[in-house]
Amino acid sequence: MEYKIGLIGCGTVGQGLLEILDRKSEHLRDAYDFEARLVAVSDKLKGSLLVPEGIDIRKLLGLLAEGKPISAYEDPKKPKYEVSDPLDMIEKTDADIIAELSYTDIKTGEPATGYIRKALRTGKHVVTSNKGPAALHYRDLADLARKNGLQFRIEGTVMSGTPVFHLCESGLAGNDIREVKGILNGTTNFILSKMEQDGMEYSDALALAQKLGYAEADPTADVEGFDALAKIVILSNVLLGGNVQTSEVQRTGISGISKIDVAAAKAAGFRYKLIARTVKRDGKIEASVSPQKLPLSDPLAGVMGAQNALTFDTDLMGKITIQGAGAGKIETGYSILSDMLAIHRCKKN
Ligand code: HSE
Repeated sequence: MEYKIGLIGCGTVGQGLLEILDRKSEHLRDAYDFEARLVAVSDKLKGSLLVPEGIDIRKLLGLLAEGKPISAYEDPKKPKYEVSDPLDMIEKTDADIIAELSYTDIKTGEPATGYIRKALRTGKHVVTSNKGPAALHYRDLADLARKNGLQFRIEGTVMSGTPVFHLCESGLAGNDIREVKGILNGTTNFILSKMEQDGMEYSDALALAQKLGYAEADPTADVEGFDALAKIVILSNVLLGGNVQTSEVQRTGISGISKIDVAAAKAAGFRYKLIARTVKRDGKIEASVSPQKLPLSDPLAGVMGAQNALTFDTDLMGKITIQGAGAGKIETGYSILSDMLAIHRCKKN
């Protein structure tokens, strides 16, 4: 079964997705009867392209690797059409699925939310790893999708392609999830790990996290807990059925924690972690982000470096902990593929 794909945002994650679609196309066709035809791409900085008969992904990746604009793409056999920006692309394409991978703005959710609304209003499924729209407007966007018989899927917004929503939707189906808590920001976990294991100063560890590409463009979002806050709001609203607003979440970051605090905790048999938590009590949901000293026996205490982890407390299965990547080009690119495959499974059934 073939799906026409429109891609918004062709940065790290967009290119990760394209690499996967190129590398695994035969496997996806043979094992899952899934074929992706890339018909449109629009990136605010790199340009736009609409080729209804299909874009040669390898050729496009080659252009991007050479730093050329997307508009430089040519295929003598397949006509290309002018598009000016993502909204124009959504209007003109007949894509089945829009992969929305533009930059994250946790404060406004724009311009991504506008793109998603337009895609859903024009009959296209949407898959995204963009935390802004999911944290601020999940209910609205999910309702709009439902009304139009479409899907709005967000696996990549929390823990990249590590299956959080897929796990709860299928593997843990039938459970009531009472609490979700974990490590949802790789940058801060990396900093705390480096301070403990290598005796690094906070500022040096942060500089290294930035150099390795873990941190957000503005690392305040990481160290002051805003990134983890957006993710715990998403989990509250999607997994616990809440309607939590970002302003309702108590938040403390890790900038006040020193190397001395980390060493003192270690000497007492504890380890600092930035813990995001959401719990349902008497129908009310409370969410928070704060540094906590965990006993070393807690599975979350053993999660080091830029890894993420989540513990789900369920009524039938008790506590289940998953650990995995929270970011990365291929890992987040995979989250988009996994959501496309979920749409495909739904369509087949
Ligand atoms: N800056 C984020 C982190 C990236 O450190 O986890 C993934 O959302």
